[in-house]
Amino acid sequence: MEMEQLVALCKRRGFLFQSSEIYGGLNGFWDYGPLGVELKRNVREAWWHDMVTAHNELKVADGAPSTYEMTGLDCTIIMHPQVWKCSGHHDLFCDYMVDCRESKKRYRHDQIYGRWVEARGERFFVTTQTLGEEGLNETEQKALKFLKLRTKNADELTWDGPLVCLTEVHDFTYVLGPDAKSLGTLTPPREFNLMFKTTIGALGGPEDAAFLRPETAQGIFVNFKNVVDSTRVKLPFGIAQIGKSFRNEITPRNFTFRSREFEQMEIEFFCRPEEAPAWYKYWRDLRFKWYLDLGLAEGRLQLRDHDADELSHYSTGTADIEYAFPFMAENEFGELEGVAHRGDFDLRSHMEGKLMRKDGELAVETDEDGKPKHRGSGRDLSYFDAESKERFVPHVIEPSAGADRAALAFLCEAYVEDEVPNDKGEMTTRSLMKFHPRLAPYKAAVFPLVRKDGMPEIAQEIYGELKPKFNVFYDEKSAVGRRYRRQDEIGTPFCITVDGQTMEDGTVTIRDRDTLEQWRIKKEECGEEIERRMQS
Ligand code: GAP
Repeated sequence: MEMEQLVALCKRRGFLFQSSEIYGGLNGFWDYGPLGVELKRNVREAWWHDMVTAHNELKVADGAPSTYEMTGLDCTIIMHPQVWKCSGHHDLFCDYMVDCRESKKRYRHDQIYGRWVEARGERFFVTTQTLGEEGLNETEQKALKFLKLRTKNADELTWDGPLVCLTEVHDFTYVLGPDAKSLGTLTPPREFNLMFKTTIGALGGPEDAAFLRPETAQGIFVNFKNVVDSTRVKLPFGIAQIGKSFRNEITPRNFTFRSREFEQMEIEFFCRPEEAPAWYKYWRDLRFKWYLDLGLAEGRLQLRDHDADELSHYSTGTADIEYAFPFMAENEFGELEGVAHRGDFDLRSHMEGKLMRKDGELAVETDEDGKPKHRGSGRDLSYFDAESKERFVPHVIEPSAGADRAALAFLCEAYVEDEVPNDKGEMTTRSLMKFHPRLAPYKAAVFPLVRKDGMPEIAQEIYGELKPKFNVFYDEKSAVGRRYRRQDEIGTPFCITVDGQTMEDGTVTIRDRDTLEQWRIKKEECGEEIERRMQS
């Protein structure tokens, strides 16, 4: 599937629009249309249901080391600026960017790739933003163009090594930038903090500066004690949160994949330090399975352990759940979710100012001069285990997913074209969205075969009965074949048709989107039938 086809369908059928489109759009911001909002809501609801509300804390879940509890939070987007100092985001949440003096374009340093080439007495590093076979072809074309050679002269080029990241090149004098015509136009990399800054209050001095959260996780850490004190949760337990996060990405791209405003679905799972490795494995496997259960194909989904140099500043182990998005080069995958073993980094940095002594007692932490340290809140964020009578700082496993990336993966996976007979029995191509029924924006559509003979009245009655149960679409316009196609294209799993036989025996046909199978049931049984099939 070509990404352009999906992007066009998303706009045509109202899944996704560019933000502020009538003003030329805003790079890195997207609006969900009438169907997109239902899809994304279903993604969020499936996640919250499966991870939080449907979790049975009385029973050991498959693969879990013990029983555990799950609860939720909904924190603010703007938090005390000190939160970001302690989390490390203020000082460390940066990307490096390079500017091109010639094309005036800006790139992420680690997203430019290239290879050294020699020809006609020149040696230079020719760059691209694409990896794989496509990237190799692009660099070849660019090198030929730069040297004013034709494609038939390609064997004059001597390549020195494979495509490597620009981060491996230290002097840019002989670098040909991705959109440049001359060498040496890229500036040295500059650090750029990804947090959006804002100002609180009317006076707006420097001391009023605040940030839009770049992750929802910190709201959970700073409320850890509130949750423990206000509920009866005992370790191990998880706190879940869904909400918007903001990152001033240098190069937002690939549709919604890298946006500047996006939604996260995060769990901070608190456990005893010695149990953390077992919980880490449990969450990796559980989260991977979640995507499979909702329809992502096994061959396009992978679990990848981070190399040591990829780990975030806080992480002692992370695995990514990745999907082979169609815009990636062959054999490349894009991150859907990270499952990280964060140790006690976050709770400890927010409690800095208080020191836990070996005997479990808390004391005021001091610097080399004996002065109290006050970077963190100075509050006690340790946990007291009433059974073992131990006090310690829990370790954390964090499955952190992106709602927009998940929705995009489900859109990519769902898009299929197949050959089906039309009303005249001729084979035609149909575009279809094979969403898992739980994710489909509409669960069913109801049609009267024709707009007469009492059929619309019965169809409207069925529609009215189903509407409170799940999202249903009513359509009586145009030929029934075209109505089916419209529903296929937006991924409605079932179409119910009221026809002549309904008037005689009270039965209707139900058509399955994927198999095109049609069968009859009593009109009163539509709701039950669809609910049953959605669960199977
Ligand atoms: N609390 C950990 C954390 O935020 P992350 O890997 O930076 O980890 C977690 O982000 C998830 O959030 C990613 O796996 C991705 O699904 C989503 N995400 C991150 N940046 C994003 C962006 N710019 N656009 C869309 N989704 C993004």
